[in-house]
Amino acid sequence: MSDIIDGIVAKVQESTIFRSRDYMRPEYVPDELPHREEQIKALGNVLVHAVKGEVPNNLFIYGLTGTGKTAVTKFVLSNLHKRAPDKFSFAYVNVRQTDTPYRVMADVIEFLGGKVPFTGLSTAELHRRLQRALNDARKVIILVLDEVDALIKRHGDELLYRLTRINGELSGSKVSIVGITNDVTFVDELDPRVKSSLGEVEQVFPPYNAVELEDILKRRAIVAFKPGVVNEDVIRLCAALAAREHGDARRALDLLRVAGEIAERQGKSIVTADQVYEARTEIERDRMHDVIKTLPFHSKLVLLSIVDGSRRERPLTTGEVFEIYRSLTRKLGLESVTQRRVSDILNELDMLGVITASVVNRGRYGKTKEIKLSIDRRSIMEVLNEDERLVSIWS
Ligand SMILES: Nc1ncnc2c1ncn2[C@@H]1O[C@H](COP(=O)(O)OP(=O)(O)O)[C@@H](O)[C@H]1O
Ligand SMILES: [Mg+2]
Repeated sequence: MSDIIDGIVAKVQESTIFRSRDYMRPEYVPDELPHREEQIKALGNVLVHAVKGEVPNNLFIYGLTGTGKTAVTKFVLSNLHKRAPDKFSFAYVNVRQTDTPYRVMADVIEFLGGKVPFTGLSTAELHRRLQRALNDARKVIILVLDEVDALIKRHGDELLYRLTRINGELSGSKVSIVGITNDVTFVDELDPRVKSSLGEVEQVFPPYNAVELEDILKRRAIVAFKPGVVNEDVIRLCAALAAREHGDARRALDLLRVAGEIAERQGKSIVTADQVYEARTEIERDRMHDVIKTLPFHSKLVLLSIVDGSRRERPLTTGEVFEIYRSLTRKLGLESVTQRRVSDILNELDMLGVITASVVNRGRYGKTKEIKLSIDRRSIMEVLNEDERLVSIWS
């Protein structure tokens, strides 16, 4: 049996496609960030005061996903830090992954050398420990809170409020906060006090255009792929497809990387447009898989109702979806949500691209919505079947 593994290992070791796949990973921060000179300069000008041991203004960065916010911030901070390692420190926390205010504070305390049990401390105690750890550091600390909208949507802006006020309670150190968000509308929802102190300086990251994406991809492909494996047409195609969405560099890099992986699996020695299109399908399938997998339970039930109802010929109406949903909840012995809520769920599923819901006028019967699946039934069921709570429906 182990010869199977040998075969697999041999195949990646002698990849005909990649020189080093790591350069295509989303976490990799390149030494060069073309088309972000202006943003690098702007962030540098704000944060450079840390090099003299002075506290920079708080900074708020926003722009759509894949516009280089995380990469540029890390790039600027680590390059400044190299020049004055003892004047300041910076802590980077991805708040979406860190999830709770408790874990965010704990991460910062631990970064500063303090200790925190996994759960159990009161907010007041956590705050005391954070204060102590910050004071003991005796320098400027730049705290980067990436994807900060995720925390605030789930837990409110209390933590952010506290952090923006913390300098008043410190003697030995000073904190400056860099908040980053992919959600451009989020700023307006903030408490005005948080907004004004966090947004002392604001920096927007605009989407890349196709030419810029092409340039970014080209430079990455040179180090990541073997010579001659990807040509200009393939790069241009990846850039064009990503630019059509919103100029997302992550998307463009993913397309090229996955196209390379597909070519490798197929035993090819070059990447062509075929693999780029296959990559697009594969990425979209994975994205949909994640979207459906992480839906709240009643949204899954509504989706299941649509799958069930879509066996018939004509499109489903909201009312019909609700009826099927109700019979499913009954079968599971659960309380159903209201028709109003089901209607909201349908809008959410539409926005996520799982279904399309279009308003149709049925003359004297008034307006209704017609619901159709945007993805094939089988792919949806594959994901829904992974949820154990739904198992009793089929048994
Ligand atoms: N100007 C650029 N040059 C090279 N790579 C870039 C550039 N901008 C973004 N990237 C790469 O694209 C991916 C997404 O960038 P990232 O900074 O994570 O975007 P954001 O944080 O805005 O969502 C990362 O792999 C990053 O290295
Ligand atoms: Mg980011």
